[in-house]
Amino acid sequence: MPTRPRRLLKRGERLLEPDVYLTRVGDAPAVVKDYGRYRRTPLAPLARVLVRREARHLRRLRGWTHAPMLVGVVGGLALAMEFVPGGPLGGEAAANDETFRRLRGAVAQLHASGITHNDLHPANVIVDGERVVLIDFASALRTPRWLRNLPVLRELRRSDLANTYRIERRVTGRTPGARVAATLAAPRWSTALRDTWKRFYRGLRGR
Ligand SMILES: Nc1ncnc2c1ncn2[C@@H]1O[C@H](COP(=O)(O)OP(=O)(O)OP(=O)(O)O)[C@@H](O)[C@H]1O
Ligand SMILES: [Mg+2]
Repeated sequence: MPTRPRRLLKRGERLLEPDVYLTRVGDAPAVVKDYGRYRRTPLAPLARVLVRREARHLRRLRGWTHAPMLVGVVGGLALAMEFVPGGPLGGEAAANDETFRRLRGAVAQLHASGITHNDLHPANVIVDGERVVLIDFASALRTPRWLRNLPVLRELRRSDLANTYRIERRVTGRTPGARVAATLAAPRWSTALRDTWKRFYRGLRGR
């Protein structure tokens, strides 16, 4: 297969982080998330699961303006998607009140389709003029309708929403009003669960 020029956008350094690069597929620029460095390692099956999961979410969201279009899975350990020009929220790209309204709208639509993103932060939101695009669906979760009222799933939705407000606060420096502050406050059981998970995860990664 001929090698195409590629530009590294982000080098995968931490555990199970992909190399992300910009290349071309046909005539169009495309972004590839590549877990190829795990090939023939014990973590390869896990990397394949991450690729498959993210691809499945993007496939479901095909046609939705707030997610990049999936191009395809390449050899099991990489996925290619539409390159969204512009830049991350809070970077060079201009952001105003309308941008944040669109972001909240996008998150609400995502939730209505049964998916939580679970990793919303400025680098995972790209602003391309009037288009606001959520990327990085590696941690996203889709649940069947009959499970959607479970407390843990409501908590994931609340947490996504809280993250959109945190992004807005970080980018604009504005403090949220009382209603928003209530959304930002996590219930105690959720904070305890998250702390336990973080301790476990750090232990796993040896730091
Ligand atoms: N479709 C895209 N269009 C433009 N830039 C992108 C796109 N996908 C990723 N990027 C750029 O590459 C960076 C890394 O991508 P991404 O967030 O998906 O990977 P990651 O955070 O390393 O992944 P993971 O959380 O799955 O380990 C993004 O912050 C963004 O700058
Ligand atoms: Mg990311």
